Amino acid sequence: ATSTQITVEGKTYDTDEWMNAPSSILSSIPRRLHLQPDHPITITRKLIESRFPAPTYQKHNTLFPIVSVAQNFDSLGFPTDHVGRSRNDTYYINKSTVLRTHTSAHQADTFRANTSEGFLISADVYRRDAIDRSHYPIFHQMEGARTWSRSAVPEGTTLARQVWDDLKTIPKHDLVVEDPNPSFHPDRNPLQSDRHSPEEAEAVATHLKRSLEDVVVTIFSAARAAAAAAARGGFSAPTSEPLKVRWVEAYFPFTSPSWELEVFWQNDWLEVLGCGVVQQRLLDSAGVPDRVGWAFGIGLERIAMLLFEIPDIRLFWSRDPRFLDQFRERVDGKITRFKEFSKYPPAPRDVAFWLPKSTAAASTPDSRNEPHSAPNPAGGLAPESASNAPASSTTTNSPSASVSSTSAPPPSTASSSTAATTHPPFHENDLTELVRATAGDLAESVTLIDAFAHPKTGRQSRCYRIVYRSLERTLTSEEVAGLHERIGRELVARWGVELR
Ligand code: PHE
Repeated sequence: ATSTQITVEGKTYDTDEWMNAPSSILSSIPRRLHLQPDHPITITRKLIESRFPAPTYQKHNTLFPIVSVAQNFDSLGFPTDHVGRSRNDTYYINKSTVLRTHTSAHQADTFRANTSEGFLISADVYRRDAIDRSHYPIFHQMEGARTWSRSAVPEGTTLARQVWDDLKTIPKHDLVVEDPNPSFHPDRNPLQSDRHSPEEAEAVATHLKRSLEDVVVTIFSAARAAAAAAARGGFSAPTSEPLKVRWVEAYFPFTSPSWELEVFWQNDWLEVLGCGVVQQRLLDSAGVPDRVGWAFGIGLERIAMLLFEIPDIRLFWSRDPRFLDQFRERVDGKITRFKEFSKYPPAPRDVAFWLPKSTAAASTPDSRNEPHSAPNPAGGLAPESASNAPASSTTTNSPSASVSSTSAPPPSTASSSTAATTHPPFHENDLTELVRATAGDLAESVTLIDAFAHPKTGRQSRCYRIVYRSLERTLTSEEVAGLHERIGRELVARWGVELR
C-alpha cells in the first residue's frame, strides 16, 4: 500500500486508507473565522465570552483542529460503534487522526492542565455534511466548563454550599424559563450517584443553567435591539413579550445529567446548546478526580445567524467587502443587523433641495390639525402618520413646535405668512418612507451627504444619496430615473421643498 503525507500549517501527517479530508476542507483551516477581527463569528464569540470573566474562566482560542481519535471520541466515552465515528460523518487524516468534530475534543486535556476553575474554548469544527443555507462542513463552537475542587472546599462548608454561594454572582434575569423535569431522573437523566450527592448535582445543575440563561439574555437582548433599530425609521416598538427558554433532557456520553437549551425565537423552538454535569470518569482520567462541575457546547454560527439575521451560513466564508464591512466589534456590545447585498450593480442618484423657508414656523400645533392643502397622491404615508399622532406627542416630537413657542415670531404672524403653504416640516424619516413606498426593495439606502444653510438667506439645503439596486437584475437607467423623479415630485408636493 502506498502511504502519502500531508502537511497542514507546518505539521505533517501520514495518511492511510481512512483519509477522506478533501483539500478544499484542509485549505480552509487557516481561515479561523472566530479570530478574524470584526467578523460576525468573532463578535458573537466575544459577546458570549463577556459573560464568563477571567480569571475564573480562562480562554483558549487557538487550539489546533487536527486531533486524535482518542481526544475527539475515546476520552469522552463515545462507544466504539458510535455513528459519529463513521467515515461518513467525520473527516479522517488516518485511522487514529481526525479533524475535530466538536470542541469537546479538548475537554480532557484542558481539565488535565488544571490551570483555572473554568475555561472557554472557541474553535473551528468539522463534520461531513451536505451544504445548504444552514449546513456547512466547517463551523465554530464554544466549549465552556466550570469545576470545583472537593479538596479546596473550606472547612465548615460543603461543595454544594460553595456552588450556591458562587451562584450569587450571576446576574438576575427576567427570562421565562420552562424547566419541567427534576434535575436528574434514574432512567432518563441519571445522577452519578456513586460520586455526587443529590445536593451537589442540584447545585451544579443550577449554576450551569443560570450561567447559560444569562448568556441567552445577553444574546437575545442584543438581537432584539438590533431588530428594533433596523426597523423602518428606528421607531417600531420593540417586542415587549418576555423571552422564553426551556430546558430539555438530553444525552451526551460525557455528561450526566444532560440538557439542551431551546429558545423561543420567531415562533419556533430553537435548539441553541448542549450541556450537563461532567462525567466523573472523564475527570478521573484527566488526573483531577477531586473536581466536580459542568460543561456546555454552543454552535456560534446559529447564534450569529439570528443575532445579525444572516440568512445563509455560507456567507460567513465570504471575502466580499460588502459582507465583511458590515460588521464592527463595538465596546458597547451593540449589534447592527446584516443587510442583504446584491451581485447586481448599484445605481446611486442624488436629490438636493432647499427646505421651505418657513418650515420652522409653519406648523404650530393649530395649523398642523388643519387639512393639508397639498395633494397627497400616494396616500400620504408620512404626513398622515404625523397628523394622526396624539396632539401631545406631535407637540413634543416636533422641533417646529418648540421653536415657535420660544424664539419664533408670534403665532399669528407665523400662520398668516405661511397660510398658503401648510406643509408639515420635513423630517429625514419621511424621505426614508417615501423612498420605500416608491421604490420598494429596489431602494438599498438613503444617506444624507450634504447639509448647509445659505449664508445670506439662512435657507436650509439638504442633499441625499439614494442607492437603487435590485437583488435579481441590473436596473435600467430609465427605470431608475422614473423612480427618482417620482420621489423628487413627491418631496415638492408633500413638504414644499424646492429641488435644486
Ligand atoms: N459537544 C457536544 C456537541 O457538539 C455539545 C456538548 C458540549 C454537550 C459539552 C455537553 C457538554 O453536540
